Amino acid sequence: MGAKPRSLSGIKPTGTPHLGNYLGMIKPAILMQETHETFYFIADYHALTSLRDSEQLKENAYDLTAIFAAIGMDFENHAFFRQSDIPEVTELTWILSCITPKGLMERSHAFKDALSKEQEVNMGLFSYPILMACDILIYDSNYVPVGQDQRQHLEITRDLAVRFNLLFGEAFVVPEAIIQKDVATIPGLDGRKMSKSYGNVVPLLAPEKQFRKAIMKITTDSKTVEDSKDPETCNVFALYKCFSNKADQDALAERYRAGGMGYGEAKQLCFEALNSELKEPREIYQNIRQDRPKLDGILESGRDKARAIARQVTDRVREKVGL
Ligand code: ADP
Ligand code: TRP
Repeated sequence: MGAKPRSLSGIKPTGTPHLGNYLGMIKPAILMQETHETFYFIADYHALTSLRDSEQLKENAYDLTAIFAAIGMDFENHAFFRQSDIPEVTELTWILSCITPKGLMERSHAFKDALSKEQEVNMGLFSYPILMACDILIYDSNYVPVGQDQRQHLEITRDLAVRFNLLFGEAFVVPEAIIQKDVATIPGLDGRKMSKSYGNVVPLLAPEKQFRKAIMKITTDSKTVEDSKDPETCNVFALYKCFSNKADQDALAERYRAGGMGYGEAKQLCFEALNSELKEPREIYQNIRQDRPKLDGILESGRDKARAIARQVTDRVREKVGL
C-alpha cells in the first residue's frame, strides 16, 4: 500500500449479486487492483434502510465476501470490509449532515423514487447520500468505480467535500467517479435495468443449470426464426457484447441481420460466452462460501486496514470543525 491512487467502492448486501453488479461495479473494481490501492466494502448500514431480516443481512454479507474472493480480489494487498465495522463513518456522517442542505437530499434520486412509488421513506433513506459521501471521503479516496445509477451520489459527494473544504479549510480529497461507458446500465430479463429490486436478474454465480435457465428467460421480441433481427435492440445481444470480443460480436450481429437464427440459439451462444468467464469463479465461490473462519479472517484484516485510515481522516475533520 502507499503511493498508488486509491479506488473505493461499496455494494449493498440486499440480495444475490447479479450480472449488472458484476459488469457495472465488481469486475471494473477488481481490475483496478493492478494499478490502484483498492478499498471495497459491504454497505450493510445502507442495506438497513430497506432490509429487516437480520439473518439475511448477515448471510448476504458473507455471500459478497465469497464473491469478491471468487472474482479475484487480492485480500493481502487490498482491503475488503464491512461498512459497519468502521464506526467512524457514522461519526463523520453526523458532522457532514450539519453542512448538508436539506434541499440537496430532496433532489436525490433514491428519495424521489421512493416518494413516487409511495414506498417507506425513513430518515436513513433520506440521508443515504450523506452516509455514502462519508464512505468515500473517510478513506481519502481518489476514484470510485460504480454503475451509471450512482452518478448523482458521486456528484453529491463532490459537492459536500468542496463545501466542507471551503467552510473549514482543506480536509477532504475530492473524488472522481469511474463509470464504464459500454456497460453503464445492463438490461435485466425484462429489458428494464437489471436490479435486485425489480426481480429481473441473472444471478452472478448461481449453479450452472439455474444460470442457464435465467438466460433462457430473457425477453425478446416475437420475430420468427426466419426474420431478420436487430442486434442493437436485443437484450440477449446486449449481454453477449459484454462477454465477447469485437470479431465474435460482429459475427453474431451479422447472423441476427441475416435471419435464419432463432432467439433460442442466440441465448445458447450468450450462455456459453458468459459461462466460460464465470465457470471458474463459480467453483471458487462454492468452495469458499461455507468456510466461515476464512471469510471472517478476510473481513477482519480489511477492517483493520480501513479503520486505521478512517480514524486519521475523522480526527483531521474533528480538528477542523473544532471538536
Ligand atoms: P441493485 O440495483 O440490484 O440493488 P446495487 O444498487 O446494489 O444494485 O448496485 C451495486 C453496484 O452495481 C453499483 O455500483 C451499481 O451502479 C451497479 N449496478 C447495479 N445494477 C446495474 C446494472 N443493471 N448495470 C450496471 N451496473 C449496475
Ligand atoms: N449506494 C451504492 C449502491 O446502491 C452502494 C454504496 C454505498 C457505495 N456506499 C458507497 C458505492 C460508496 C460506492 C461508494 O450501489
